[in-house]
Amino acid sequence: MAFEKLKNTYLPARPEAWSNSSIVVDEEKCTGCGNCVQACPCACLEVVGKKARMVEGVACMSCSACVAHCEKGAVTMRGFYRVDEGVFKTTLLHPDDGYPKVPEVEGIEGLTPVEEVIYKRRSNRIFSSRPVPDELVRRVIEAGRFAPSHGNNQPWSFLVVNDREEMDRIAEMMDPLYRHLTRFYFSGKSNPVTRSLLSVASALLPPLMDQRAMTGGRAILKPKDVFLGAPCLIYLLGDKRGINNMYVDIGICGQNMVLAAHSLGLVTCWLSFAGVGAKMLPWLRRYLGIKKPYVPVTAIVLGYPRVNADSMVKRELPRIIWRKNGQNFTELP
Ligand SMILES: Cc1cc2nc3c(=O)[nH]c(=O)nc-3n(C[C@H](O)[C@H](O)[C@H](O)COP(=O)(O)O)c2cc1C
Ligand code: SF4
Ligand code: SF4
Repeated sequence: MAFEKLKNTYLPARPEAWSNSSIVVDEEKCTGCGNCVQACPCACLEVVGKKARMVEGVACMSCSACVAHCEKGAVTMRGFYRVDEGVFKTTLLHPDDGYPKVPEVEGIEGLTPVEEVIYKRRSNRIFSSRPVPDELVRRVIEAGRFAPSHGNNQPWSFLVVNDREEMDRIAEMMDPLYRHLTRFYFSGKSNPVTRSLLSVASALLPPLMDQRAMTGGRAILKPKDVFLGAPCLIYLLGDKRGINNMYVDIGICGQNMVLAAHSLGLVTCWLSFAGVGAKMLPWLRRYLGIKKPYVPVTAIVLGYPRVNADSMVKRELPRIIWRKNGQNFTELP
């Protein structure tokens, strides 16, 4: 039984164990511009005969980037990525297509400006090459500096690469890592020995072996630009001596930054691929001058949009348990 479970952990070889959201393209509206293809972090879409369509068998993570980046309103997303068996089995609550796009906020008429930016800010993946002045980058970092942190320990530091040529050099250094990693991962589809190794690794290290991350890793290989054409990259470095859980503090700091950037007319995309690259490649860390006790946690790219993706998108329903009178009540089955 346990062996059967283990056998099922490597997902790409068993597509029947998982399902994508289905992306539906309205061919009447689609002009074949390719924005959705460029915006898709998993390379799930292609344009054939001037119409966009889904590529078969690629894990779509239901992020709605294609919906948000289609200026013609031609894309809709139905359902959500889910896994029905094994260690990756999800317990998602799947809204059907009738689930409203607009968040249901109980008891209020409209959205506050803060709520509006939270709901409408999208990760942008189609940047203009227009540079960002250093002063604006500073303002974005200021918002991070004022983030709350455990014991006010402020365990962050920022490495700013506001230089596209230097970003290209960094991308060049990271490319082999993602090429080898994803080649190894997907080789498990046809190679039973690799598949067994990957099954064990998937059972032991689910966060590392998630097929959506691997699909994303494969999708950023050259000629695609891992930095999405953005002109500015900010590494968020964390102090390993941080109180309790430094990663929580870094996340809050980064979210302050992306929201502040939005309010300054900039767009952003979190980019853990850049952080992971620096984490896994000591020579890249040396090249970048990242020194202990700081470690790369994640990164954000920043710039001006070539395509404005801001809009509300679908999300899973919230899993809420209300504890009242000593009992748990769930809102949904
Ligand atoms: C910590 C973190 C790391 C991320 N890393 C990447 C990344 O490496 N590449 C990418 O294209 N998107 C990355 N994203 C963006 C997510 O894919 C995106 O937030 C998610 O799909 C939801 O879309 P939204 O930001 O438009 O709401 C990351 C997001 C977070 C919070
Ligand atoms: S972004 Fe919209 S219009 Fe452009 S190719 Fe995709 S679906 Fe078609
Ligand atoms: S929902 Fe996200 S992952 Fe899926 S096709 Fe659209 S952009 Fe790609």
